[in-house]
Amino acid sequence: MELTQVVPWGRSFDEYCRMFRLTEADHTRTILGCGDGPAAFQATARALGWSVVSCDPIYRHPPDAIRQRIAATRTEILGQITARREQYVWDEIRDVAHLEAVRMSAMESFLADYEAGYGTPRYRDAELPQLPFAADAFELAVCSHLLFLYSTQLDRATHLAAIAELLRVAAEVRIFPLIALDGTMSPHLAAVLEWAQSQSVDATIVPVDYHFQRGADAMLRLQRRG
Ligand SMILES: C[S@@+](CC[C@H](N)C(=O)[O-])C[C@H]1O[C@@H](n2cnc3c(N)ncnc32)[C@H](O)[C@@H]1O
Repeated sequence: MELTQVVPWGRSFDEYCRMFRLTEADHTRTILGCGDGPAAFQATARALGWSVVSCDPIYRHPPDAIRQRIAATRTEILGQITARREQYVWDEIRDVAHLEAVRMSAMESFLADYEAGYGTPRYRDAELPQLPFAADAFELAVCSHLLFLYSTQLDRATHLAAIAELLRVAAEVRIFPLIALDGTMSPHLAAVLEWAQSQSVDATIVPVDYHFQRGADAMLRLQRRG
């Protein structure tokens, strides 16, 4: 994947914990962060002694290239969010300037850690729907702001293949959010729930204590039975 196809925008470890209801007890689990991009999940998790592997196709690019892409797209992203201000809940994140500070801080943490971790197994260049991991390599896989959100770019078949692949490498998968970019429920959610039922996979929509995009207040938890 070329970096010009990606608009890098990364969230913090604290946001991941709230999106996925992760707690201190999860620090002993082996976790895959799929599509982590420039998020600080890996950087902070490592500092806290958690066992996380992050994968994303942007990890084939060196730190300087990602840093430059973040700098090149930052103003454009903030402009788009400003134009769609009413689609967000401005509470904990007070305004666009505060959002910029929170996101840049997370991406600076990522970049500092990525300088050391580039090319190591912590940051794997990998792309759904095919991952370079053994079956059950992880206990839990989390996927933030990729599946369901990009419902137009990733069609239903890709969603089903991606989720089957995540459930191959981890017995439990959590996905947030369930809405698409336009703020409506993803058109692929019903198909995923139907597929799960046919595959001996327990699927539960779980409310979460993370509210930024309006309508994004729950994650999907999928667990292989048996
Ligand atoms: C909006 S960003 C979210 C980054 C991070 N998960 C977060 O929430 O802060 C979406 C990420 O998905 C990655 N991505 C795009 N297509 C992917 C695929 N097929 N498999 C895995 N990651 C992908 C992009 O490179 C980008 O880093």
